[in-house]
Amino acid sequence: MTSRDKIIGLFRTCPNQYLSGQEISRLLDISRAAVWKQVEVLRELGFEIEAKHSLGYRLLAAPDLLLASEIERGLNCQLIGRSVISFPETDSTNVRARRLAEEGAIEGTVVVADRQSAGRGRLGRRWESPPGVNLYCSILLRPQIPVQQAPQLTFLTAVAVAETLQELCQFSAEVKWPNDILINGAKISGLLNEMNAETEQIHFVILGVGVNLNMTESQFPDGLNYPATSVFMETGQPIDRLNFLQFFLQRLDLYYSEFLQEGFTPIRHRWESLCHIMNKQVEVDRGNRCLRGTVVGLEADGALRLQQQDGQIEKILAGDVIPVKSRKREKN
Ligand code: BTN
Repeated sequence: MTSRDKIIGLFRTCPNQYLSGQEISRLLDISRAAVWKQVEVLRELGFEIEAKHSLGYRLLAAPDLLLASEIERGLNCQLIGRSVISFPETDSTNVRARRLAEEGAIEGTVVVADRQSAGRGRLGRRWESPPGVNLYCSILLRPQIPVQQAPQLTFLTAVAVAETLQELCQFSAEVKWPNDILINGAKISGLLNEMNAETEQIHFVILGVGVNLNMTESQFPDGLNYPATSVFMETGQPIDRLNFLQFFLQRLDLYYSEFLQEGFTPIRHRWESLCHIMNKQVEVDRGNRCLRGTVVGLEADGALRLQQQDGQIEKILAGDVIPVKSRKREKN
């Protein structure tokens, strides 16, 4: 923890109180000049800090920044967030988390950035990551499960994101197979989970999570091939990113420990209850042929179970799944 983080920590533990430069310098074992310098840096970051002669410094307001010390404070998790690393800017939190994992970072490490200069989406796409508005984070896990079960963690993450949106914003969030979260049919969150494994053994999994929180319409790139939205666009109200992240990490922590103890079944049921195409007729575009059937659930390997007219179950591992009704509507 840097001395800047420690100063914020002191302000947080003594809300509305003045802390003298001398006291801060003694508690942190740094010079008074260093305290003053760090207070200036905090001000530049947007912290409103009052300075009164003979009384000291007092925190009046904190900006909406995702600082590691702020994330860790009050985080009620067993495993996730045992180490939190935050960057004002990075190329991609997934890339950072992967490097840290290779260097031996502990399970549960969370990497967060305010901005990504090379945010990555699925299928080599770009993930738009402007500063100050959204959530870009990656979580490092080292589960001792068979390699084929690793996709289950994507569904676990999707459930944790969807439930956070439901509980904090009262949205009716929907999970879209395999790894999107939608609000009113528009994408609000995408997941990019990456694995490092050897034949039978998982070394680590990176859960990459992007959630559009306070992004405005003009901040989305032109030419997206799907409708996209943010919490702000849906409600007209900004949402506190720190609170959102902490709630999400706690939900993820809860479901991850449940998953390690009880397996995939509880998560599979939750995911299915959040999936609006369950028991609905869909078409799956498989490039060369189009399949039609009813979605009846998830397989253990993350494939979608599609029941065809003759009762046969087809496992869908890739492809665009489109509800039959909405496709008809589009044509009208
Ligand atoms: C998608 O829907 O295509 C997946 C998007 C995943 C974006 C997140 S943002 C945090 C993490 N870092 C990345 O570079 N990508 C993921």
